[in-house]
Amino acid sequence: MRLLRSIYRQLDDRYRITPFVEKNVTKKLVPRTLGWGGCLGGLTFLLFIIQVYTGILLLIYYKPDPARAWDSVTFIKSNVQMGWLIQRVHAVGADIMIVLVLMHMARVAYYKIYRAPRELHWLSGVVLLMLTTMTAFTGYLLPWTNLSYWAASVGTEIPSAVPVVGVGISTWARRGPTISGETLGFFFAMHVWVLPALSVIFMAMHFTMIRRTGISKPL
Ligand code: HEM
Repeated sequence: MRLLRSIYRQLDDRYRITPFVEKNVTKKLVPRTLGWGGCLGGLTFLLFIIQVYTGILLLIYYKPDPARAWDSVTFIKSNVQMGWLIQRVHAVGADIMIVLVLMHMARVAYYKIYRAPRELHWLSGVVLLMLTTMTAFTGYLLPWTNLSYWAASVGTEIPSAVPVVGVGISTWARRGPTISGETLGFFFAMHVWVLPALSVIFMAMHFTMIRRTGISKPL
């Protein structure tokens, strides 16, 4: 412990970590009228961090292959130490993150915080909402169960109702006419790399804009 403290002190002397954390996190001033609702965006972000952490752990054993996906998830749940817990936290965490992001959005809409100068907070938020739901949707197929197969089937069928381009979008999302191993590989890449990376970019935009305007002051 003493060694760790001394390493931290050395790093702190050089990189000024403590004043940065105090200014931006532990001693950051927020409006007195903020209330608990003001924590919803931060809680959504906390859930995102938990999802990334548990997702990385699951990746150690998960196999994105139709012949082995279901077995690998069963292996994680029954044979890997604490695997069942990591898998549950990741699955339930996805649901909680969606609920939180919707509550955060509802609060922002109720207090009309989308008005100038916060229009871009709202727009980047809408993109974040779509990215969050798409990440949850693509992740749902990965255990390759009957339920996840049919959820992906129904979900990817929805865009086909759009005139002219709809069927093309459905076929593109499935990487073919039906859900197959190709879909699993595509959803895996989206779930693990593309959508989280885009979420990080849009969260950076969201947070930079919030820093510029500060959090609003509800009456
Ligand atoms: C992954 C999703 C999201 C994360 C991690 C996130 C995070 C945050 C955080 C930490 C704040 C500052 C504290 C707060 O007011 O709660 C905030 C503020 C804000 N967010 Fe989000 N947010 C997300 C999605 C959304 C969505 C879906 C919308 C609306 C469509 C939205 C619109 C806003 C607005 C307008 C503010 C400014 C609030 C104020 O100034 O009081 N955000 N967000």
